[in-house]
Amino acid sequence: MNKMLKALNKQVYEELASAYLYLSMNTYFKAEGFDGMANWMYKQWKEEISHAGKISEYINDRGGRVELEALPKPQVNWSSPLAAFKAAYKHERHISSCIHKLVELARKDGDLPTENMLAWFVSEQVEEEATAMDIVDKLEKIGDNISALYMYDSLLGQRE
Ligand SMILES: [Fe+2]
Ligand SMILES: [Fe+2]
Repeated sequence: MNKMLKALNKQVYEELASAYLYLSMNTYFKAEGFDGMANWMYKQWKEEISHAGKISEYINDRGGRVELEALPKPQVNWSSPLAAFKAAYKHERHISSCIHKLVELARKDGDLPTENMLAWFVSEQVEEEATAMDIVDKLEKIGDNISALYMYDSLLGQRE
């Protein structure tokens, strides 16, 4: 497998590790009684699985073969919903930097198909960061206002 496909293989791992983290956050929110945020994280888990699938299919299309890596055990508890979403935001920033490095590598190789495939992920990461940032911002404003927190929880639960 060439260098680019190896790097993409690593990204399959990154996306699955993201899924694993968000499923862990789903169970944390569920245990804490924040059903809306739990639902939001469940949707996020599915989305990350689909990202891993997209890259995996691309590797197959290019004649490579995905070799799945072992996933690390994700964190189990957070000190508050705000702390969890701050961690999600930080994680998305990390994923963005992974994607940007892949784009650089594709450019260096003059690998136009890969650069083109990655363009979708570049835009997706802008969305992912903006969404997580917005939730962090709102949770900071809510502070320790419990009724506002539950109202916001049910709003997040409406995520399709
Ligand atoms: Fe992703
Ligand atoms: Fe993501």
